[in-house]
Amino acid sequence: MAERSRALTFLLLGLFLGLAGSSPPPEPVECARGTSDCTVTNVYGSFPDRTICRAANATFPRTEKELVAAVAAAAASKRKVKVATRHSHSFTKLACPGGRDGTIISTERLNKTVSVDAAKGLMTVESGMVLKDLIQAAAAAGLALPHSPYWYGLTIGGLLATGAHGSSLRGKGSAVHEYVVGMRIVTPAPASQGFAVVRELSVGDPDLDAVKVSLGVLGVVSQVTLALQPMFKRSVTFEKRDDTDFASQAAMWGGLYEFGDMAWLPRQGKVIYRKDDRVPVSTKGNGLNDYLGFRSNPTLALITARATEEHLEEDGSDIARCLAARAPSVLFELQAYGFTNDGSFFTGWPVVGFQNRIQASGTCISSPEDGLLSSCTWDPRIRSPFFYNSGFSVALSKAPAFIAEMQKLRDLKPRAFCGLDAKLGVLLRYVRASSAYLGKSEDSIDFDVTYYRSYTEGEPRANSDVVDEIEQLALRKYGAVPHWGKNRNFVFDGVIAKYPKAAEFLKVKARYDPDGIFSSEWSDQVLGIKGSPNIVEKGCAIEGLCVCSKDSHCAPEKGYFCRPGTVFSEARVCLTRAAFGDESDDLLEEQ
Ligand SMILES: Cc1cc2nc3c(=O)[nH]c(=O)nc-3n(C[C@H](O)[C@H](O)[C@H](O)COP(=O)(O)OP(=O)(O)OC[C@H]3O[C@@H](n4cnc5c(N)ncnc54)[C@H](O)[C@@H]3O)c2cc1C
Ligand SMILES: *[C@@H]1O[C@H](CO)[C@@H](O)[C@H](O)[C@H]1NC(C)=O
Ligand SMILES: *[C@@H]1O[C@H](CO)[C@@H](O)[C@H](O)[C@H]1NC(C)=O
Repeated sequence: MAERSRALTFLLLGLFLGLAGSSPPPEPVECARGTSDCTVTNVYGSFPDRTICRAANATFPRTEKELVAAVAAAAASKRKVKVATRHSHSFTKLACPGGRDGTIISTERLNKTVSVDAAKGLMTVESGMVLKDLIQAAAAAGLALPHSPYWYGLTIGGLLATGAHGSSLRGKGSAVHEYVVGMRIVTPAPASQGFAVVRELSVGDPDLDAVKVSLGVLGVVSQVTLALQPMFKRSVTFEKRDDTDFASQAAMWGGLYEFGDMAWLPRQGKVIYRKDDRVPVSTKGNGLNDYLGFRSNPTLALITARATEEHLEEDGSDIARCLAARAPSVLFELQAYGFTNDGSFFTGWPVVGFQNRIQASGTCISSPEDGLLSSCTWDPRIRSPFFYNSGFSVALSKAPAFIAEMQKLRDLKPRAFCGLDAKLGVLLRYVRASSAYLGKSEDSIDFDVTYYRSYTEGEPRANSDVVDEIEQLALRKYGAVPHWGKNRNFVFDGVIAKYPKAAEFLKVKARYDPDGIFSSEWSDQVLGIKGSPNIVEKGCAIEGLCVCSKDSHCAPEKGYFCRPGTVFSEARVCLTRAAFGDESDDLLEEQ
């Protein structure tokens, strides 16, 4: 056991030390003939239901005028249409046009800065601009986007469409859409208006509350104007503590630090608290966040890491998996998560640096092509670590009780949580209530987990029941809402009923796109317009396509049966017979 663990540690070290160079992620849109006969996928190369999304053709407008022409062409022939972005990071089929003969409009070439007004703190960019470039362009004018997702490979159009955020309860909070003060969106129009029009929205226009977070169903956002702040500095310290008072800390932490977050390592019983606050620009330090998980990795190391992971998953015991689960968090801590005090070396906390160097990272997207010697961890062109990512928000007022129940489940089944520790735990981030119709209706904590996914459809995951129980607990008992850009199918079932302003959103949709050319089967299911996002079939609960209601939804032939949850008895999860009984905790023996 110890040997295997050492081998894994060695391997992961190789992995995270990284190499120079990288291949940028593959194109999400691929066409068999020129710009016709296309497929669109996400950056992982696979949607949760593993369908291949086809479109008749794709266009790559460079200007708003070309964009208007593209929308007009689709509207004139009432053809289905969807926007794809440079990398398409959303898990679910949001970028997939309806039917099979739809059109894809890629915003890849709509990535220019339109204008910057440093004195007013306003910046207007085209919607396909990648967050990395946006942050850089703002910084060049002395401005900072106060909050953003932690990964800068997203586009402004895509991250707004899915309500993406960082972590904060201060001011307007961490969602990027809170900083939008203007948008231009191209929507279908009657023939008399040339089949497409540009609608210009600014603060005070109620439609902005629909367009800010739109799931891409209202039209194509052409430009976005953001209210930025003068560049500032932050001071970051990570501190690992026991998780005994985690529930009560979670209620307070967002009030203590402007950019505070928490990462819970359930099996280890630890929480990594992020103390992260604004400091005067005169504070010394030129720190850099080059997060380890978002760096490029040697392809060989990724393949080996995946092979080890698959071996542990399929043939390993819980004890072996739990031993292996320690390495990533140890290695990340040893390397200060990829933070340095000066861009090269880490000498100790706090790391003080300018907002643009701390707020987000993702060096694996921007290195030059190296023939796939190295790549982002999730590159689908190699047999790399393949995973699911679930994200859901629980109202701040209910979060401590939810955390306490997760801890109770952990106490009953500690070893089943090792898979989460192995992926660096549960990330907790703060998001404020929003006026956006599809934004959060209350101040919330967003919980984010990453976990193993098999390349083989229907192959059970070890201890899948704990993630499934936690998700159902959050969604059903604590009224959680899923992140629009993450998750598996079943979490979107009925979710629209949790949005008090959903009807307002649908009214704007009916006005902007009466023929629903921007709607797909998937968006209709998610928005509760038609059908259900659940796909109820053999093995569906294994893939997160349904909540099981009978054994055949799990994998009875492999020993997985549909059973009630352990702590939340209303949950229905796939369990092995071995897991029905109690589990004794021998944490100490494992050490
Ligand atoms: C490694 C990684 C880290 C992440 N970190 C975070 C994080 O810290 N916080 C967070 O909240 N999320 C995070 N996410 C999730 C991410 O926010 C969403 O997946 C986001 O939607 C992806 O943006 P994208 O530009 O790739 O858009 P896509 O996934 O390509 O598009 C999303 C949707 O928006 C539509 N759309 C895109 N552009 C336009 C436009 N111009 N007009 C109209 N519709 C448009 C698309 O059609 C689609 O429906 C992360 C994802 C990954 C892979
Ligand atoms: C896209 O494909 C459709 C259906 O095959 C066709 O009618 C349309 O003209 C094509 N558009 C472009 C721009 O190629
Ligand atoms: C736009 O994308 C191209 C690559 O397609 C890139 O070279 C360029 O730097 C981007 N522009 C901006 C302003 O980020």
